[in-house]
Amino acid sequence: MKIINRFKTTVSTFLVFVFFASSCTETVKKEENNQAPISNEVQQEVAVVTDEVVKEVADETTISEGKEIFDTKCTVCHKIEEKVIGPALKGVTTRRSDEWIIKMIVDPTAMLANDPDAKALLAEFNNVPMTPLGIDKESATKILAYFKSIE
Ligand code: HEC
Repeated sequence: MKIINRFKTTVSTFLVFVFFASSCTETVKKEENNQAPISNEVQQEVAVVTDEVVKEVADETTISEGKEIFDTKCTVCHKIEEKVIGPALKGVTTRRSDEWIIKMIVDPTAMLANDPDAKALLAEFNNVPMTPLGIDKESATKILAYFKSIE
């Protein structure tokens, strides 16, 4: 009984954490939509929180689902270790924020048109644009979990 109770407590602590973390991210997103300026510290904090959430939540199934999507849809242009048509993706999670990576996977066209880092990358890759593949946010999060697992 005691063990079960302890397990329950751990699970609820974790859920409270996830709830807290996601509501944090939500608040900032709303601010972003209103174009309210976000200080660097807040952005850093959000990056850390999102990072922890993805690491905590990513189980083996999520990671292998992410790998499968990557292997089917992305390997025409990307390899993990080497640059081909697109950049090598090993270590991308240390170069870019979680939000950035997810946005790039979900809507590369908008990112290449508006985001300064994506624009710079486009120039570096001879103006070959990454193709939008209709990946939704949930699948992009799985791919991100896979990238984190091979970081
Ligand atoms: C048609 C080729 C192509 C396909 C398919 C493609 N990409 Fe890309 N990707 C690129 C290119 C080229 C870039 C560099 C930016 C640019 O020129 O658009 C890039 C950039 C990226 C970046 C940023 C890398 C960095 O160093 O910051 C990520 C992340 C990424 N791609 C993930 C993916 C994922 C995940 C998929 C599959 C769902 C995918 N790409 C499919 C060509 C492609």
